[in-house]
Formats: sequence, C-alpha cells, structure tokens
Amino acid sequence: STDGRGYQHGCIDVHTHCYLPRYMDMLRARGATSDVPYVAAGATPTADERYVILPGEDKDSTSAIGRPIGEEYFSVAEKLRYMDRHGIDVSVLSLANPWLDFLPADDAVAMATLLNDDLQEISSDSSGRIYGFGVLPTQDVAAACKEVERMSKSADKVRGVILGTSGAGKGLDDPTLDPLYESLAAHNMPVFLHPHYGLGNEHYANTGHSLFLALGFPFETTMAMSRLILSGAFDRHPNLKFLLAHAGGTLPFLSGRLDSCVEHDHEMCDKLDKPFSHYLKENCYYDSVIYHTPALKSVIDMVGADKLMFGTDNPFFPPPGKGARSGEEWVSTSKNMDAIDGLGDKKIADDIIWGNAARVLGIDIEAVGK
Ligand code: URA
Ligand code: ZN
Repeated sequence: STDGRGYQHGCIDVHTHCYLPRYMDMLRARGATSDVPYVAAGATPTADERYVILPGEDKDSTSAIGRPIGEEYFSVAEKLRYMDRHGIDVSVLSLANPWLDFLPADDAVAMATLLNDDLQEISSDSSGRIYGFGVLPTQDVAAACKEVERMSKSADKVRGVILGTSGAGKGLDDPTLDPLYESLAAHNMPVFLHPHYGLGNEHYANTGHSLFLALGFPFETTMAMSRLILSGAFDRHPNLKFLLAHAGGTLPFLSGRLDSCVEHDHEMCDKLDKPFSHYLKENCYYDSVIYHTPALKSVIDMVGADKLMFGTDNPFFPPPGKGARSGEEWVSTSKNMDAIDGLGDKKIADDIIWGNAARVLGIDIEAVGK
C-alpha cells in the first residue's frame, strides 16, 4: 500500500466514478440550452464549469443549479493522486449517473462501445491500479447483450457493468431485460446497481441536494431491487450477481419486513422459489458507502462479511471549497474507512477493504505497480 492508513494487503475501491473525457465533451456540446444533463461554463472565465445532472435540477430555483466540476470528475491523473493520498491501491472505475440513459438508442449504442474501449485502455495503461465497470445502452437490449459479449471477449479489465434503475425505460423488472440478465450471468459479469432518479423527490424541496442524495438515492435502490427480486429474475437467473450501491439502500434494515410482507401477501406468497431475503444473500454484494459502523453491522448480520466491499463514491462529496484538488484528506472517504475500523475486527476489515473485491472481481492486488 502507498500512503494513508497503509492497509496491510492493499485497498480496492469498488464505488468510484469518472466522467471519461469523451463523456464530458458530449455534455459540454449539449450545453446550457439543453435539458439535463449538461455542462455549462462557469460564471467567470476562471470559475469551475458547472455540472447539471439531477432530474429537475435546472428547474429548481430554490437551490444552486448544478455543482462545480473540475479535474477530480474527469481526470485519471487526479484519480490516481486521490488514491495515493488515501491509500487506495486499486479503483474499479465506473461512469457516474446518468450514464447513457438520456440518449436516443442509436447514440447510446455507439457511445457505450467507445466509452468501454476508453475504460479498457485507461485500465491497461494503469499498471494494475485501475479496472472498470462498463456501461450499457439499455434502451436497446439486443445491442446491450452484444456489448456484454464484446467486452467479455476483448476488454479483460472490465469486470462487470454499472446499471441505473431505468433499464429499457420501464425499470429493472421489465421482462424485456431478461436476455441481458441471461448474458450477464453467463459471462460472470456482476451488475453494479446505482441510483440516479431518486424516490420521494416531491418531499425534498428547499434542502439542496442533501435529502435527495441521503434519502432519495437509497430509496430508489431499495425499490428497484425489491421489484427485481419479486419479478423472479433471480429464480430464472440464479447466477446473476448484483453489487448494490450505498450498502443496499435500506434493504439491510428492511429485509425482515420484506420477507414477512411478501409471505403474507395473497398475490405474492407463492411466486418466488425462496424467501425474499434469500436473494439478498445469494445474489447480492454491498458496497460500504454508508459512513456508519452500525449500518455495516446490519449488512454483515444479514448476509455475512464476505459480501461487503469498500467504496468511496469519489469524486462526489469532495471537501468543501477548493479542497477537492488541494491534496487534503476527503472526510467522506476517511469516514467510510473509520466505519470499517469501528467494526473492531481485523479479519473482517481486511475482507471489506480488499479481500472480497479481489475474490469476486478477480483483482490481483500483488500485481499493482508491476
Ligand atoms: N451524486 C451523484 O449525482 N452521484 C453520486 O454517485 C453521488 C452523488
Ligand atoms: Zn456513486
């Protein structure tokens, strides 16, 4: 390990984003005259550009429109600097929300291939420090299946895919996605499920992005995954694996209630082969982006410590002000490390910090820098 806490065996970050330069260029070209998402010039020539991506953000006059965006969002060199500062040896990079969701299908298909090739190239040039979760044009399921096939043959650094909750436009339980799940399971490509749209957004006015991100995001993940499980997708595709963002939203807390409510529902009680929570254990992994030891404990109690993987959500939640590129510590990152240390179990901490990701995603931590 490099710096930071000097983890004995290294540290793998499975929840870390990069808006690849090609994606940034597309958003800049869309410009402020377009619907979200877009990148607009800053108010003055020296000010950071502003990044406007969240649903309705451009229409919400009560909070600042967008956020300042700089190198930490799109530069691989800046990512490596951040990793060195915090003792992170390997990052599994993913494009961040809203991925290709907003593009017409043809554009999404073309862009996915280009971005996945970029990701493969960046990873190949990184001396083992960067791997990737690819992106898929889910609006065209046949093309998305082809892209999975293509990546599994020619993009050896891509170890899974990131998906939002919209699928082909009708959610993840849409039966038209079945061939995609089949293909992902067959190629042993886990899905990193990440929110973007929020749930309950009508309740979050006048709170900036705080409640949208703290509540809307995890509620969205909870709902999308619950619907997917109830659709029987994991009975049809028992080898399909999901990595759930933000420690599974609220699923670790609600799994008992979900079991009970499904079991006692006349319509749902006979639909699944197993209890609801079975799939949360057998088909799901969880990142550690939850900033709280008791929340990590609830994941461990529910599914076991071999299902949790360290994440940061970098470059989101930078230190306020100009701190993002100053080389100072990111509290959002150290808090997640503190929460893992707070478990008070060296073996479990090692598994979360690197062991589980190394095993599940096939990452060779010994090869870093070689
Ligand atoms: N805000 C976002 O838009 N995405 C994230 O992943 C985290 C915060
Ligand atoms: Zn994220």
